[in-house]
Amino acid sequence: MSEKTTKRLIVGNWKMNPSSFKEAEKLFIEITKLISHIKKTDIIVCPPFLYIEKLKKLSRKIQLGAQDSFWENGGAYTGEVSSEMLYNTGIKYVILGHSERRQMGENNNFINKKIKGALASGLIPILCVGESERDLEHNYFNFVKTQLLECLNGISKNSISKVIIAYEPIWAISSTKDRKDAKPEDCKEMTIFIRKILSDKFGSESSRVKIIYGGSVNDKDAELFLKDGGINGLLPGKASLDPKKFSKIIEICETLNK
Ligand code: 13P
Repeated sequence: MSEKTTKRLIVGNWKMNPSSFKEAEKLFIEITKLISHIKKTDIIVCPPFLYIEKLKKLSRKIQLGAQDSFWENGGAYTGEVSSEMLYNTGIKYVILGHSERRQMGENNNFINKKIKGALASGLIPILCVGESERDLEHNYFNFVKTQLLECLNGISKNSISKVIIAYEPIWAISSTKDRKDAKPEDCKEMTIFIRKILSDKFGSESSRVKIIYGGSVNDKDAELFLKDGGINGLLPGKASLDPKKFSKIIEICETLNK
């Protein structure tokens, strides 16, 4: 399956926003109204855990995802939420290994266990990888390679097509101090590299893996990234909290899907 024939997806990562369910509901309903005509794009919203179950009842078109999950199904793990609990709530996707969680201490080994737990529970993991800077020696390629190989260690060839890879260069994310804009070419060279790593490790099955891009993507540059970034979709953070911007990004994707 090539990047052209794969149905594209737009995943909104709300991060730790908004601060009440009332606001979350308003935001979600506004998005729902604006995307009612969308048919060819998979739309996923990943709100904080607390809001998932209630939001799920408000739209059939928007699928819900979580921003993390734990690898064990139950037991003495204070504060954690298991993949199985999420699956039983009716959600399908989970973002794992986001750079903001890595900055809080999560490492590739933890993420690897979480991916295995998510797959075993029937969830689709969205594995985030990305470098904090682009050095002149191009060590950032090795950095992303290590993230991929360690996070996907022990995943079978049969399961790899169920994993989505999100390339999120930390230097381009909206919350990064002194951030810089990434260009579609930056994204494209990394997606080609990621595909090569996946192909070397998993063979032809890896061609079905979807790669999406996140890093301050908005309604102004979404089209360029989707057209020239070598990707199957986008993972906006900040822009997903603005119904007009988020729905515009989805609209752009839908037009390209035609
Ligand atoms: P921004 O779009 O706010 O830069 O966030 C990107 C991101 O981290 C999505 O997971």
